[in-house]
Amino acid sequence: DWQYSLRPRKLNEYIGQDKVKENLSVFIQAALKRGEALDHVLLYGPPGLGKTTLAAIIANELGVNFRVTSGPAIERSGDLAALLTNLGERDVLFIDEIHRLSHSVEEVLYSAMEDFALDIVIGKGPSARSIRLDIAPFTLVGATTRAGALAAPLRDRFGVIERLEYYKPDALVEIIKRASEILQIPIDDHGAEEIARRSRGTPRIANRLLKRVRDFAQVDGRGTITADTADKALSRLEVDKAGLDRTDRRMLDTMIQKFGGGPVGLDTIAAAISEEPDTITDVYEPFLLQMGFLMKTPRGRVVTRAGYEHMHVPYPE
Ligand code: ADE
Repeated sequence: DWQYSLRPRKLNEYIGQDKVKENLSVFIQAALKRGEALDHVLLYGPPGLGKTTLAAIIANELGVNFRVTSGPAIERSGDLAALLTNLGERDVLFIDEIHRLSHSVEEVLYSAMEDFALDIVIGKGPSARSIRLDIAPFTLVGATTRAGALAAPLRDRFGVIERLEYYKPDALVEIIKRASEILQIPIDDHGAEEIARRSRGTPRIANRLLKRVRDFAQVDGRGTITADTADKALSRLEVDKAGLDRTDRRMLDTMIQKFGGGPVGLDTIAAAISEEPDTITDVYEPFLLQMGFLMKTPRGRVVTRAGYEHMHVPYPE
């Protein structure tokens, strides 16, 4: 699909996250030189920053198969055992949302990660016994929005732990230009900069906005995306100058109007705007914190002065 075609396949095509890229490059080259499986890798950070893309690149650079699953998709330990026993030598297994694995599945993963072995219980009651099944050495790449949500024994089994950061505007401009070339959408520098500024530091959002702006440019405009077409389209999409969408603004507005700007608890905010608490902590809050519009305090979330100013509401002195 399009997302696949937009995805870089090699580390040197991957824009931004320079520190992560440089580290991974060394670890990959070293593993290749030794002819060993790469150590297990944990990638964490907000959604849309390219964790899945990086995992696929790791497999590609290692020249091995890439198998994809997610925490919620692995319901029983038997599901995981089936996956693990089908892996080839040094393959990459990617588990997205790894913090959502059940306890019993996690247990199976421990010995698989550490000893490349599965402990399988045969039978029930007093005659039950456990046999150990060897599996091929493999690399687990886990992804999570919150490394803190991971059980310590699981976290400790990753040899490489890397945090992805929101992208700088320059990197997003590059990503947008690369995508517009692949998608054959003419865009000028200012058009790319305008979309970059309003993409919340997130390539997935940048690529989505690019495609929607193209729709406006093709229907209303001259076919080329300029700063002006980008601004008009993004305003129509209700993406504001700082990149906040309707939900971001609804959250700030509700906190200001209903709760005096806070402090207010996560569950209270979630109920007031009808969103899941997890969606708020994983998707909305990290960007609002990064922008300095929101603060976390021991008593709850608080809208900052900058947050009030962004919402054009006088800050209560
Ligand atoms: N598309 C999405 N994320 C990207 C990245 N980091 N580099 C290049 N293209 C991308």
